[in-house]
This record gives sequence, C-alpha cells and structure tokens, in this order.
Amino acid sequence: MFPINRHRRLRQSAASRALVREITLQPTDFIVPLFVVEGQGVKEEIPSMPNYFRYSLDLIMEEIDLLWSLGLRAVLLFVKVPENLKDNTGAEALNAEGLMQRSIALIKSHCPEMIVMTDVALDPYSSFGHDGIVEKGKIINDATVDVLAKMALSHAQAGADIVAPSDMMDGRIGSIRTLLEKEGFHHTGIMSYSAKYASSFYGPFRDALDSAPGFGDKKTYQMDYHNRGEARSETQHDIEEGADIVMVKPGIAYLDILRDMANAFDTPIAAYQVSGEYAMVKAAAAKGWIDEQAIVYEQLIAFKRAGAHLIASYFAKDVAKKLTAL
Ligand code: PBG
Repeated sequence: MFPINRHRRLRQSAASRALVREITLQPTDFIVPLFVVEGQGVKEEIPSMPNYFRYSLDLIMEEIDLLWSLGLRAVLLFVKVPENLKDNTGAEALNAEGLMQRSIALIKSHCPEMIVMTDVALDPYSSFGHDGIVEKGKIINDATVDVLAKMALSHAQAGADIVAPSDMMDGRIGSIRTLLEKEGFHHTGIMSYSAKYASSFYGPFRDALDSAPGFGDKKTYQMDYHNRGEARSETQHDIEEGADIVMVKPGIAYLDILRDMANAFDTPIAAYQVSGEYAMVKAAAAKGWIDEQAIVYEQLIAFKRAGAHLIASYFAKDVAKKLTAL
C-alpha cells in the first residue's frame, strides 16, 4: 500500500529499469525469411516490402555470411517458382534439383551451422495459387498431404534442418513425421504453422512470390480469425502428430492466441510477424509518422512477452545489427 509500495522506485534510471527487466531480445530469437529466385546476380526489391529483396543463389551466400556475422542463426527459405514450372500437383516441389533443394544444399555446404528451415506448402508451385491440389474448385486434403510429406522428405534429403509446413491441411504433421522416420530422418525437425489464420496481412508476401490464389480465398483451410479456442485443438493435434515447434500467425493482431498457446503447451512457440505487418510499419515510417526502430522493437518485445520463444521477422537483420552494435 502507498507509500510503502512506490512502483516508480525502480524506474528512476536506465540502469535500474534494465536491472529488473523481464524480457530482452537477442539475435538468436529470430528466424530470417529469405526469398530465393533463379538467375545470377539478382537482387530485386519487393515493391510492397521496401528494402526487402529476392536473391538469386549466388547472392544468397553473401547474405548468409552477413546474417551469421550478426548472430542470426536460422533462416526460413521460400522460393519463387517460374510460371512454366507451376501445375496443380506440385510436381516441381519434389524435384531433387529444384530451386528449393539447391538452395538448401548450397547454404548448408556454405555455412553448415546455420539452421535451414524450409517452407512446405504448394502455393508457390501451384498454377491455382493454392496450398493444395485443386479438384472441382475445392482444395483436397489427403492427396495434398501425400505430396507435402514427399516435399518435406525431399527438403530433408537436401539437408534441411527443420521443415515448416505452412499449408494448414489436416493430418500433414503426422504424415510428414511418419515418412521422415521411415526414411531415417529422425533428426529433422518440424516447425508447424499450427494456428495459422486466413488473413489479409499476407498480401505483400504473395506479391513477393507471385503466389496469390487464382480463385477464391484460403478460408477452407486456414483458420477463421473469429475463433480463439480452435487454435488450441489445432496446436494440440500438431504436437501429438510430432511437431517440434508450433507457430501462431500472423503476429501482432494475434497476441492473445500466442499467450493462450504459451500457457497451454510446453512446446517451443514461434510467432510470425508477417509481410503485411512489415509493410504497414515501413509505409508509416516512410511518411515520417512513426519511429520505425522504436515501433519494431516494441512489437518484437510484445511477441516475447506474449510467450513467443522465437520470432520470424523481416526486421530480423535490422534489429540484429542494432543489437550487435550495442
Ligand atoms: C504459404 C505461406 C504464406 C506465408 C508463409 N507461407 C502465405 C499464405 O499462406 O498465403 C505468409 C508470410 C507473410 O505474409 O509474411 N503457405
């Protein structure tokens, strides 16, 4: 009771505040999303993601060196698939010589200790821009899951440390885990996008990969954002099926879900600060309306405070630069 309790006593100086601080950020909290394209010497800015780029493989190596030097230890690979290689079954996703498989192998041989995570979903490979196989206008679950398991296996064979299914088909974690075990990939991790909501925050990402759905939307497989309790059963099933890390996505608008999952499960939880979140901060900062660095830092701390153990963020490099300069 006042004046015995004076909350301001510990807020008097920067040193005192730091002493009792609960949450801090470090470079190893982050997963860095990387967009890879075919070609040589390609570094293309993504129009809706200012200062974020697609790289060809030769330039990705320099980027990996830079990330490593900043203390960043995990990357999440996405590939932009040439239009002529897209179909309805994701055949190219299984190509051992495909862009994803070559990227994994090259990064792992260049920087063996960098944790390479890979996106497992059909949308960049799909002529319909959907995460699964389309039949009569519907995204069919079980046939898609068979392809996803083979896709995850092919990433593991190329050297991926952790495969990251982002598709939201039912049963895919179990199928991937079963196939990986059967083929001897006992050590390959699975980071499941377990509570992934059908969200308008993914717009800029779909520009980055040219992967927007050609018809309809993703509401029959990604979660309905009106629901909270459902995130728990989705996540529980993924853990039971063999996920090593689970994820809540998007980020800042879903901190309630993140906290729920942190309270409910001991499995490490990732948050994904998605492309639309990045674009919004960049746009407002470009107008001079907000202080980008301060806003980003505050949001990232909020993810950890809400229970995230790791954060996929397009700001990871900027933040790590700042942290390592301290
Ligand atoms: C593909 C995938 C998406 C994202 C990650 N993996 C897009 C989608 O589901 O439509 C979104 C990432 C972002 O917006 O930053 N399955």
